[in-house]
Amino acid sequence: MSGFFKSSIGRKVAMALSAFFLMFFLIIHLAVNITSLFSEDLFNELSHFMGTNPLIQFALQPVLIFGVVFHFVMGFILELKNKKANGVSYARNNGAANSTWMSRNMIYSGLVILAFLVLHFADFWVHEINVKYVNVQPEEPTRYFHELQEKFVPAWRVAAYVVSFVLLGLHLAHGFTSAFQSMGSTVGRKKTLQNIGKAYSIIIPLGFIIIALFHHLNH
Ligand code: HEM
Repeated sequence: MSGFFKSSIGRKVAMALSAFFLMFFLIIHLAVNITSLFSEDLFNELSHFMGTNPLIQFALQPVLIFGVVFHFVMGFILELKNKKANGVSYARNNGAANSTWMSRNMIYSGLVILAFLVLHFADFWVHEINVKYVNVQPEEPTRYFHELQEKFVPAWRVAAYVVSFVLLGLHLAHGFTSAFQSMGSTVGRKKTLQNIGKAYSIIIPLGFIIIALFHHLNH
């Protein structure tokens, strides 16, 4: 197993697998949060279920946190190895000649997403842990919607979220096809995959942007 992570292809495959997992999470996360645009009750119900179901809380959530940490750590390792490989940037990379601007800057868009996640965890997750385990309060199944709306009142937070979501889109635009390439599965279906990747990297961030702006304008 350690040999797998030591090989360049092993690291890329591990990176791709964690990316697929996180991309799947983003679909679910967007699907849950998008309900807040049209049904306060449905959003509260789903959030309550997600927040109290033991399988989600104690099995899926730790796996998700592990997936996020793994993806970041592996991303840094890949970046460092690539830098070492040719002293400056990506291995076999000849600047704009054979790689796009975004593919060379995955680490920077990744760092913005990491900064966003720190803010996002402070905003929602720390609060959840506090309410559930530290300053335990009686469960209020209808609190989620108002908590969400309140978060998007300050313009600075909405701006920080929106900028992060644009960077997330750029990160996904390259990451989506790159992950498939690392798994060696673009052959013959390249165009279709590229189109799905484009659609995914626009729809997911745009959905989150709409949610943030909607609650900012409708509280
Ligand atoms: C408008 C956009 C978003 C909203 C309203 C939102 C809302 C939330 C809420 C309410 C939670 C707390 C869930 C809980 O523990 O009960 C949460 C957790 C989380 N969010 Fe978001 N989110 C947004 C965008 C994103 C994005 C773009 C990412 C990833 C890049 C992300 C990653 C996470 C992660 C990793 C957690 C912790 C998961 C967990 O608690 O199980 N979120 N989000």
